[in-house]
Amino acid sequence: MQTQILKPDESSLSAAKKIIEEGGLVAFPTETVYGLGANAFDGEAVKKIYEVKGRPQDNPLIVHVHKDYDISRIVCDIPDYAKKLAEKYLPGPLTMVFKSKGTVSPVVSCGLDTVGIRVPSHPDAQKFLKTVDLPIAAPSANVSKHVSPVTAEHVYADLNGKIPLILDGGKCTGGIESTVLDCTGNIPCVLRSGLVTREMIAEVAGDCGVFIPKAGEKVRSPGMKYKHYSPNCRTMLFSFAERQKAFEEYKKQRGEGVDAYLMCDGDVAREFNPEFMLFLGNNEDEIAANLYDKLREGEKVATLIIAVAPEKQDGVMTGVMNRLSKACGG
Ligand code: TXA
Ligand code: MG
Repeated sequence: MQTQILKPDESSLSAAKKIIEEGGLVAFPTETVYGLGANAFDGEAVKKIYEVKGRPQDNPLIVHVHKDYDISRIVCDIPDYAKKLAEKYLPGPLTMVFKSKGTVSPVVSCGLDTVGIRVPSHPDAQKFLKTVDLPIAAPSANVSKHVSPVTAEHVYADLNGKIPLILDGGKCTGGIESTVLDCTGNIPCVLRSGLVTREMIAEVAGDCGVFIPKAGEKVRSPGMKYKHYSPNCRTMLFSFAERQKAFEEYKKQRGEGVDAYLMCDGDVAREFNPEFMLFLGNNEDEIAANLYDKLREGEKVATLIIAVAPEKQDGVMTGVMNRLSKACGG
């Protein structure tokens, strides 16, 4: 199969609509990462997503809709706090899990009685969703376990020959996947942290839990149990407090002829000024936006990435640290 990369315009969007209606897959940009979409009503189409990505069959997909889509066609029992959150944060990087009405294919949620709904804010995502006017099941458009894609080129590198069309909306500005929020209980509960932080949710909803799986307990967001986000090279992760040790390791590895790169933010970059660096940025938004791009760049140039965690660990950095530690082997 020939994979085309096209800027979203009238002709590429109508091609995308045709592919989706015929049960095919289209990769599209969102403000977080690129998605790999199929018609959520079409179980055969959704199955193709799992095949193309090599995704485990028990990891459910989230459903993307345009901002005027009536989600009561898909889900029910929407609590008041969720309506307030939607008012404040949607369209945006927040996925809300509700009770399913059973109208989308059971393949989407892998048999769970809930469905995650996401209304992306990226203008090209909205255009695509509006054009197809169908709920689109979509995971990140990478091969399973690899680093999520934040450019059309990243998608192409993973899925060339396997899908017909990538809509190219430039580099994603958010950079890490949406916050996944369970909205089936009395208070919302974060299942996966992201750019809409627990603090931001609690501010609107009054309260917000965080799901931390205990040993032996069934995970509520099945995706969280898998190895994820890994670059195809060796990695090491040091805390901010251990940054000196990280720099020593980097020099030692370099001395032994290893193509080691130091992945770090502005604080660490200024302190050590390493020659071979994967620079994440100077503030939390920059760090989130650059993380996957730098992991993908790193696997091309380095045989070893030595990452130093930023000093700040709360807010948006909760989500960044979750991805960074998984990228570095958990
Ligand atoms: O930003 C994003 O969310 C991106 C873009 C493309 O929208 N999508 C994305 O999808 O990251 P994916 O499939 O890589 O991650 C979806 C996460 C998984 O951890 C999955 O287990 C969880 O959401 N999830 C999906 N449906 C769920 C449900 N009904 N209940 C609990 N967790 C669910
Ligand atoms: Mg993913």
